[in-house]
This record gives sequence, structure tokens and C-alpha cells, in this order.
Amino acid sequence: MSDFEGHYVPWRKARLEVITNHFGKDWFVGKKILELGAGYGHISDFFLKLGADPLAVEGRSGNIHEGKVKHPGVNFVQMDLNKDFPGGIFDLSLNMGLLYHLTNWKECLTKTLQSSDLCVIETEVLDSDEILEVNGADGAGGDQALDKDVRHFTAKLVEEVITTCGHEFEMVTEGLEVPHHTYNWKTGNTKNYVWGLRRFWFTKKVNHG
Ligand SMILES: C[S@@+](CC[C@H](N)C(=O)[O-])C[C@H]1O[C@@H](n2cnc3c(N)ncnc32)[C@H](O)[C@@H]1O
Repeated sequence: MSDFEGHYVPWRKARLEVITNHFGKDWFVGKKILELGAGYGHISDFFLKLGADPLAVEGRSGNIHEGKVKHPGVNFVQMDLNKDFPGGIFDLSLNMGLLYHLTNWKECLTKTLQSSDLCVIETEVLDSDEILEVNGADGAGGDQALDKDVRHFTAKLVEEVITTCGHEFEMVTEGLEVPHHTYNWKTGNTKNYVWGLRRFWFTKKVNHG
């Protein structure tokens, strides 16, 4: 059972710094934020403390139980994001550390992009610059997939879904390097899935008006 400590601590800190630098801390006051695959809700709690109104969606009841003890102010919903998605429109939707734990990742990503004009998408990806998707198997543990079967995919495929959903994107590589997780890497086209090879995007709905 993961406790979302250890390697999570510097990894979360780096991502939260990149996100708060992007929007500015004051932007979060009063904003409705959706966090998907929230674990113990550390990220939601961070934005709650900045004055936001976060909803933490998590598949494991055990994680929600711990999360409510650690972060009593955070609003949690239990949901299997392979099968379901929360309703509502948000000021910002965060889909981080989740998509590679799903089989229906494309549907979850599409619904994320429909849930907000502004999103943060962060995931492990295959080492290839092609449009590619393969079957995978996840490990055991409270921070892993609910079901062992998962899909793995390339960054290019993620970007294709983002643009199909009418969002533009900015991929970020700076400020995110921490032990075990890398964003500032060049594709080697091995087509391998390697723990820690990740990508991070800010997305924004394109206004055709
Ligand atoms: C790698 S952790 C990421 C935690 C946090 N989002 C972060 O980026 O630091 C993945 C989280 O997604 C949850 N998860 C995995 N499969 C899920 C599913 N099908 N539905 C909902 N949550 C799921 C896990 O229980 C875990 O809390």
C-alpha cells in the first residue's frame, strides 16, 4: 500500500510549483478544481489551502479513508475512472499520474478535456514519437491501477486526443526533474515502456468565437 510519501514528495512539489507558477497563486481563489486519481488528496489539499474549491476523485476506498483523516477539508468522491466520470464543469481539471493506470484512458482523457477549458495532463508514456498504443500490465499497490490490465501509449497519441477535443497544448519539460521521474528527455524510439518516462501538458480550449 503506497502512502504517497517517499518519491511522491519531491515529485508533487515540483509539479505543484510548475502549476502555481503558470497560473499565479492568486488565480486559484474560489476556483472549482477537479483532481482525478487523487490518492490521499494531497494535491487537492494544496489547492484548498490556496482558497480553491477542489473535488478529489479516487477509485480506492482505502485511499479516501486515509485522505479524509489527513485532509478533512477535502471533498472526495469514490469512482472507477475506467467506467465512470464525475459530472460538472470546472475552472481547472487535473489528470496527473492516472491515464497509464487505465484501459479506457482515451475516454477518461476526452472527458477530462470536456470538463474544463483549462487542464493539466500528466502521464507516463511509451518511448516513441509515433502514434502508438499497446497492452500493459500494472503492478500491485495502492497507487497503481484498480485492474491489472492497462494500456500504454505515446505522447503523440495524447496530443492527438487533446487537439481532437478542441484544446491547444503546451508541453512543459523544465522545473519537473526529480529522482525517478523525468520530463526533459529525448525520444529514443525504442517503443518501450519505462517507469519514470513522463510528459506534462497545460491545455486550453481553443475559442473559435
Ligand atoms: C500514481 S497515483 C497518482 C496520485 C496523484 N494523482 C499524483 O499524481 O501524485 C494513481 C492514483 O490513481 C488511482 N487509480 C488507479 N486506477 C484508478 C481508476 N480506475 N479509477 C480511479 N482511480 C484510480 C490510484 O488508486 C492512485 O491513487
